[in-house]
Amino acid sequence: MSVFGALFYVISNNITPIFVCVAIFLLARWLTQPKDPWILPPGPFAWPIIGNLNKIMPKEGDNSGARRVLEIARQYKTDILSFKIGSTQAIVLRKFADVKEAFSKDEFTFVNPTGPVKFIAPGIIGTDGAQWKEQRRFALSTLRDFGLGKNKAQDIIQEELQKVVETFNERGGQPFNSKTLICNMVSNIICSLIFGHRFDYDDKTFQRILFCSDQIMNSSMRYIILGYLLPIWIKNIIPGDLFRIEYAKSLMSEIKRDIILKKYKEHVAHYSDDESRDYMDAFIKEMKTHKSKGKEHWFTEEQLLDNVVDLFFAGTDTSTTIIRWLFLYMANYQEIQEQVRAEIQDVLGDGRLPTMTDKQNMPFTEATILEVMRKQPVAELLYTRHTSDDATEFKGFLLPPRTLVIPNIYAIMNDPDHWTEPEKFNPLRFIGEDGQMIKDDHVLSFSIGKRQCLGEPLARMELFLFFVGIMQKFRIEIPPGREAPLKVELGSGVDTPVISELCFIGIE
Ligand code: HEM
Repeated sequence: MSVFGALFYVISNNITPIFVCVAIFLLARWLTQPKDPWILPPGPFAWPIIGNLNKIMPKEGDNSGARRVLEIARQYKTDILSFKIGSTQAIVLRKFADVKEAFSKDEFTFVNPTGPVKFIAPGIIGTDGAQWKEQRRFALSTLRDFGLGKNKAQDIIQEELQKVVETFNERGGQPFNSKTLICNMVSNIICSLIFGHRFDYDDKTFQRILFCSDQIMNSSMRYIILGYLLPIWIKNIIPGDLFRIEYAKSLMSEIKRDIILKKYKEHVAHYSDDESRDYMDAFIKEMKTHKSKGKEHWFTEEQLLDNVVDLFFAGTDTSTTIIRWLFLYMANYQEIQEQVRAEIQDVLGDGRLPTMTDKQNMPFTEATILEVMRKQPVAELLYTRHTSDDATEFKGFLLPPRTLVIPNIYAIMNDPDHWTEPEKFNPLRFIGEDGQMIKDDHVLSFSIGKRQCLGEPLARMELFLFFVGIMQKFRIEIPPGREAPLKVELGSGVDTPVISELCFIGIE
């Protein structure tokens, strides 16, 4: 018998005592470890290995764990809570002012160098330091130039809106689940801006990208995160791909190899210095310029592929989910739906397509979008950052290097110190006495500060034009005898609604 065979024999016949010994060893090591110099906020007891993960496992009525974490913070009478995610030290912030202050500082712009974002979104979202600053600046200005500055994004969104209206019309008011269609539309907007190409909704390649990104973002997200939180030695002894990390990596390389790389090669072949057609052309231009400068930079082919993946992931699931919540809220609040439609028809009159200049004349519609975003944040505990490699002082605490900082978005969007009757769905909270919109930066859907969503202007444009365009043409109803609850899908990565079929009934 080989050494490994013998070892396997011994282990498999003594699994219980071995497990008990390992548990005792870990417990003893944890109890005897030297006291840290850090000054941490109050927080609950953290177990070895899992920390406080048990407090945020998906639960009916609290998929993200944000409500339970808020309750714990209240029990400890603290606005800043110490929490442990696996073996990672975290703090959870529940007040808007604290999040604003922390997220405006450079020390709070870092990511976990070995965490899941690093491989899921290695372009901009998963990087930090000089590389992140350079790439974020480029992405912001390029999206502004291509998408927003020249009305190109508006044209693209209007084109997609018309396709979706056609498809809704074909359904003839019969109940259906619009998730895939919305997702197609939103991803096509990103594809058009990035590589100047929109896909037909039934295109096989397009369907495959959407399948891959859905698998990574939704179906596997929690497993991946759990896998990354375990100490490396535990991961190494677990056979197979229990945490779906290898599976997600293979889907990522498929998206890059089969789609983005092909588009990149086509762009290089037809590139002209005189005309930048889209994000890819603009990036290739930077690659050429930086090659000759000899300064450190990240304008490389690999970085471009990673950035495209990031923009695709960051911009698809989020926008799709908010649009789905908008439809569900309208189906459940018929009176508000009617008010929104009355305002839209007042402004658009002849049935023309909505434009961004209409927004200022539709305060109630805008307030309704904002209220849905407040009531139903798409990610309540996921907009995280890390502190830098140095100890960081914050509000009298001394945080260890790379502390995970988690804003509790649910707590902020429902903070009774700021909102009147926060549990109520009431768009009028955003309308002033003069009938105009009241700007309120407490709606943190796009986060705040240095790493705030860089697709925010595009996303706001998508939400407004698409919502208005659909409400103008269709009445949204729950099919007779059925339900369409305002409930989160248990276990979903971002807080998506449970699947419900709705009727989109054409307005004559
Ligand atoms: C309604 C739709 C969207 C929502 C709710 C949303 C929300 C967010 C939030 C909260 C963050 C910050 C995460 C953090 O703090 O770690 C973020 C970051 C980001 N978003 Fe969005 N987003 C949306 C749409 C988009 C779109 C359409 C794009 C791309 C065109 C995009 C690109 C990005 C990127 C690249 C980042 C990373 C920024 C950085 O790390 O510097 N997002 N988004």
